[in-house]
This record gives sequence, C-alpha cells and structure tokens, in this order.
Amino acid sequence: MERFFAVVDLSKRFGGLEAVRQASFSVHPQEIVGLIGPNGAGKTTVVRMIMGLLRPDSGKVLWKGKDITREPTWKRVVGGITGTFQNSRPMKRLPLIANVMVGLYNPRVTRQGQWVKTVEARALEALEFVGISDLALTPAGAVSQGDLKRLEIARAIATEPELLILDEPFAGLTPAETRLLANSIHRLRKGGRFGRLHSEGCAMIIVEHKLSELMRIADRILVMHFGELLADGPPDLVVQDPRVIEAYLGRVEAPVREAF
Ligand SMILES: Nc1ncnc2c1ncn2[C@@H]1O[C@H](COP(=O)(O)OP(=O)(O)OP(=O)(O)O)[C@@H](O)[C@H]1O
Ligand SMILES: [Mg+2]
Repeated sequence: MERFFAVVDLSKRFGGLEAVRQASFSVHPQEIVGLIGPNGAGKTTVVRMIMGLLRPDSGKVLWKGKDITREPTWKRVVGGITGTFQNSRPMKRLPLIANVMVGLYNPRVTRQGQWVKTVEARALEALEFVGISDLALTPAGAVSQGDLKRLEIARAIATEPELLILDEPFAGLTPAETRLLANSIHRLRKGGRFGRLHSEGCAMIIVEHKLSELMRIADRILVMHFGELLADGPPDLVVQDPRVIEAYLGRVEAPVREAF
C-alpha cells in the first residue's frame, strides 16, 4: 500500500551542530502524532523541513507515494500539507478574517471557482471552527495571545489540509483556552461536516511541551532528543520508556511527570 506520509533518514546540520540526525517516521491518515522532546531537540527543524521551509541536508519527505523533498512550501499546501509556525506573525492592522483570507489565495481553493465568495465563506468557517468568529472583524493586533494561536490554526485549516502540522499550539494559552483548542483539534481529526471544512478529517503532527494535553489527544508519540528520534509508540508506553524519562529528567522534570 502507498504510504500516506513519511520522512526517511532526514538530517540537518547548522554549522557544527547536528540539529536532526536521520529521523524516520510515518503518519497514517487521520492519525494524531505528538512530537515531543526537550528544548533544542530538533522538533521545529523537523517540521520546518516537512513544510518546505528548510531544506534537509539528506533524507526524504514522502507524500502519497511521491518524493516532495524539493517541493516549495506553496506546492505542499496545494498538495494538502499545511502547518502553523512556532512564532506567529499576523498582519496586525488587518481583521482576523482578512488574515485567514490571505492564506487562501492558492489553487487548492481558487480552482473551485466563485473564489471570492468561497474564500470569504471559508475563512469565516475556519474562524468559527476554532471559536473566534465573533472576532472576525477585529484587527489581529487587538486580540489575545490565545486568540492569535487560534487564528494561526484557522489560517491553516482553511486550506483544508490532509496533514496539519502544529508547532506548539498550546504555548501561551490559559488552561481554559488550551482545553478549547484541544477539543477543536480532536474534532478536526474525526472529520464530519463543518461547513465546507474537513469532511474527511485530517492527520496531524503536533509539537508540544504541554504533555498532559497532548497525551490526551495523540494516538502516537515521537520523542526527540539531541536531534535523534528516541521513541515512537502509544502515549502510555512512551512515557514509561526509561530513555524518555532520562531525556526529560536530565533537563526538566515537570513535563513528563505531568503526563503520568
Ligand atoms: N536557523 C538555525 N541556525 C542555527 N541553529 C539553529 C537554527 N535553527 C535551529 N537551530 C539549532 O538547532 C537545534 C534544534 O533546534 P529546534 O528549533 O529544532 O529545537 P526544538 O526541539 O524545536 O526546541 P524548542 O522546544 O525549544 O522549540 C537547536 O540547538 C537550535 O539552536
Ligand atoms: Mg521548536
């Protein structure tokens, strides 16, 4: 069977630093994969290579049987892979809906015709989906950190990805906001009808330090440490893996403890 998504032996150096070393893993349709590891482990580097924002030194990114390692980001978005950035940079003077619409000027959406109306409707549906449609006309510079996080996700899901990559979606959110967003993420995977969005459901790779929330929504957890993949398995098994505990306890105690 043709693989949905995989990276094979992905490596990246920054000068003398091996940020990512021969990382290989796959993701199945509608699967939520959590990518965790201490600060500097290489998580963002991996997801940036998947999104086409960074070129790997070696290795491959495979999408539905095709090698997309050298494809530019926009082509990957058209093909169904979209992500959010660890640091969001919205256009602060523009209202939230415009921030989402800008991201929709791509053939994945416009090929369907009637695009101006479609783009606006779709942007609103995406804002509704993450629970901030009441802020559609508010400038991005005037909303909370939590709402900006949700805006980032709205921008991504409005393109109807089949693989959505979220880099620290819960960072800076209050516990209540975190819970709301986790619920939205869970709904996304299941699919169903949300206006035009996500009738099939989508797979996700979620990089996150807030492990307790991630463990609740992830089907599988990948653990990175010093650029290498240390573990790959179901959440309950991964948190008991001695190598994982050691990687975390060597640095910070809180995250893994929190997950037990
Ligand atoms: N553009 C860059 N130039 C030089 N070094 C970089 C660059 N990007 C990342 N690094 C280094 O590569 C290593 C991996 O960084 P990366 O951002 O992938 O870690 P991370 O796991 O996402 O960490 P965090 O949890 O803090 O976000 C770090 O040592 C980082 O300093
Ligand atoms: Mg990071």
